[in-house]
Order: sequence, then C-alpha cells, then structure tokens
Amino acid sequence: MLSIIVAIANNNVIGKDNKLIWHLPEDLKRFKRLTTGHTIIMGKNTFKSLGRVLPNRKHVVLCNDAILDIEDENVEVLSDISLLDKYIKSEEENFIIGGASIYKLLMPYAEKMYITKINKDFEGDAFFPEISEKEWQVVSKEPGLKDEQNPYDYEYVNYIRK
Ligand SMILES: NC(=O)c1ccc[n+]([C@@H]2O[C@H](COP(=O)([O-])OP(=O)(O)OC[C@H]3O[C@@H](n4cnc5c(N)ncnc54)[C@H](OP(=O)(O)O)[C@@H]3O)[C@@H](O)[C@H]2O)c1
Repeated sequence: MLSIIVAIANNNVIGKDNKLIWHLPEDLKRFKRLTTGHTIIMGKNTFKSLGRVLPNRKHVVLCNDAILDIEDENVEVLSDISLLDKYIKSEEENFIIGGASIYKLLMPYAEKMYITKINKDFEGDAFFPEISEKEWQVVSKEPGLKDEQNPYDYEYVNYIRK
C-alpha cells in the first residue's frame, strides 16, 4: 500500500526553489520515525534535494532521465510508473515523500496520508494538491510541539481513504 507523508503550509505551499522553506526538527524526527525500515518513493527533484541516501530506507526515484547516475543498492530508479504496481499492491506500507508532481501523480493510489499542517502562509513554487473531503477522512489530529527550535503552530493530521 502507499501512504503519503508531507508538510503543508496553510496556502498549500510545500517548497520553494527545490527546498523546504521552514525548519521543523520535530517534524523531521517524526518523518524519520515513520519511514525508517520502509520504502520511500519520490521524484528526481526531491531525491536531489535530500542530498544523500537516507539510512535504513529503500529509495524509489521516479525519473525520465535514464542517465541519472546513482549506484547505491538502496536506490531504485524507475521511469515507468507501472513498475510501482508492486508497491501499490504490497501489504507493506510504502511512503510517497514528494515532491509536488509525485504527490499529484500518486495521490489516487494512496490509502493513507500523514500530513503536517503548518498554520502559516509561505511563499513558494511547489504545492500540494487539494484534498477532497469526498475521498479522504480525518482519523486523528495532534498538535505539534512548539518551542524555540520549532517556532510555528502546526498539527499532525492523519487521513484514510473513505
Ligand atoms: N513539504 C514537504 O513535505 C515536501 C516533501 C517533498 C518535496 N517537497 C518540495 O517539493 C518540491 C519538488 O517538487 P517537484 O514537483 O518540483 O519535483 P519532484 O516531484 O520531486 O520530481 C519531479 C521529477 O520527477 C520525475 N517524474 C515525475 N513524474 C514522473 C513520471 N510519471 N515518470 C517518470 N519520472 C517522473 C521527473 O524527472 P525528469 O526530470 O527526469 O523528467 C520530474 O522532473 C521542492 O520544493 C521540495 O522541497 C516538499
């Protein structure tokens, strides 16, 4: 099965200039906790923005560029999305980690969403698609820890497909 994990600003912005805009170490810790040991699926830009292969996770990178030169046993490069079928059908939870184009492409196949909603507008150039209330149901909401290192009002909102 596929689950989406994403942090979204109030105005649906998720990034700018191929970077995250905010710094929320608590959210990054949660990302690590939820995704460790699982497969993470992403677009080429998001893979580049990570800057490294994240430990203890298999990376599936969608890319049309056959010459994307990555030699790492934990990275699989796919140019054909039909090859994601095994991840969609598997019993295991596989995480879609972005970016904008991949959320849009794979949202129809996701069963769950782990969304960090930041209660602030940001200027950006990458956006999360609209969440349809007809298709998605909120199953939990939990406020995020706000402190000097995490200086925003934010909450963790989990959804399942209706
Ligand atoms: N807030 C968050 O939680 C979060 C999480 C992740 C990313 N982001 C942000 O999102 C932004 C990046 O999003 P993005 O849309 O620009 O990039 P992206 O989705 O990470 O990657 C786009 C690339 O993926 C490849 N791709 C897309 N669809 C494909 C398909 N059907 N088949 C094969 N390859 C495909 C293409 O590579 P080719 O160039 O080879 O065609 C495309 O250029 C950044 O600002 C990043 O910081 C935010």
